[in-house]
Amino acid sequence: MLNFNSHYFPAHHQDRTRVFDLSRSRDYELWRNAKLALLPVDVEALKVKIMNPYTLHENEIMAITQRCAAYGVVIYQLHEPPHNDKSWLPEFGRQLGLVSLDDNLRSDEDSVSSLQVQSQQGNQYIPYTNRPLSWHTDGYYNAPEKQIRTIVMHCASPAASGGVNSLLDHEQLYIALRDRNPAWIEALMHPQAMTIPANVEAGVEIREARTGPVFSVDKASGNLHMRYSARKRNIEWRDDVPTREAVEFISEKLADEAIALKYRLDAGQGIICNNILHNRSGFEDSDRQQRLMYRARYYEQLVGLNPAQNA
Ligand SMILES: [Fe+2]
Repeated sequence: MLNFNSHYFPAHHQDRTRVFDLSRSRDYELWRNAKLALLPVDVEALKVKIMNPYTLHENEIMAITQRCAAYGVVIYQLHEPPHNDKSWLPEFGRQLGLVSLDDNLRSDEDSVSSLQVQSQQGNQYIPYTNRPLSWHTDGYYNAPEKQIRTIVMHCASPAASGGVNSLLDHEQLYIALRDRNPAWIEALMHPQAMTIPANVEAGVEIREARTGPVFSVDKASGNLHMRYSARKRNIEWRDDVPTREAVEFISEKLADEAIALKYRLDAGQGIICNNILHNRSGFEDSDRQQRLMYRARYYEQLVGLNPAQNA
């Protein structure tokens, strides 16, 4: 039986906001200690079985919410996985309070992306290749009002080999940073902390440059959000000492293999996460087996993770 602490479900969203206020160490300490008590994460504790994705049972929703609140991620297993079909996915999300799908350059018409190796015109996007994907959160290049708060990624078919995801709850990284030097948190919350240069394809700007904080706290829910990419050449960091030190610290932390949870999704399994930090190892497809993931990205937080909504 999992022991979920009430600090993950504060009665008022102000309580949650206070956790991330650098002047309130008491609120932070309470939350931090409860959060650290959950480590190390046992991957088996993250798993939830779903009987029917079209009609979720109340207990299934609660099990998903609890794990996402505590660990930032849940691994679900569909009892009877639909064969190579993703039409169930938006309905599955809707029952979890997820309705606003992000449509990106490579998503399908229904805004759910089919991640698989494919030949691409113009810029090559690594998610659609078999190359490793370095640490990031999704949508760090999105406009401020279109930040990704929840990702659902469903495995229709794993690769013949490889394709392992590493996952790290960004709240745990926040704790490591703040414990070491609160000034680093201040630097990472600065509105000019991180700039993603414009996206240019064949000389045409298809997305303007984006500048914003790494960590931000959502006013409505009090939840912590993170924008991050380890891809050095694509990021311009604010030029000051605390930012440089903080970025260096993050790189060192993420290089530590032991810090992350590793999981290779099997067919019929999927991940729902609060857009926590993640990466993917390279993989190999074979003639008989090719990796296919369906990915939906939402602007909303999972139902139950927004105390303001429930008040
Ligand atoms: Fe991603």
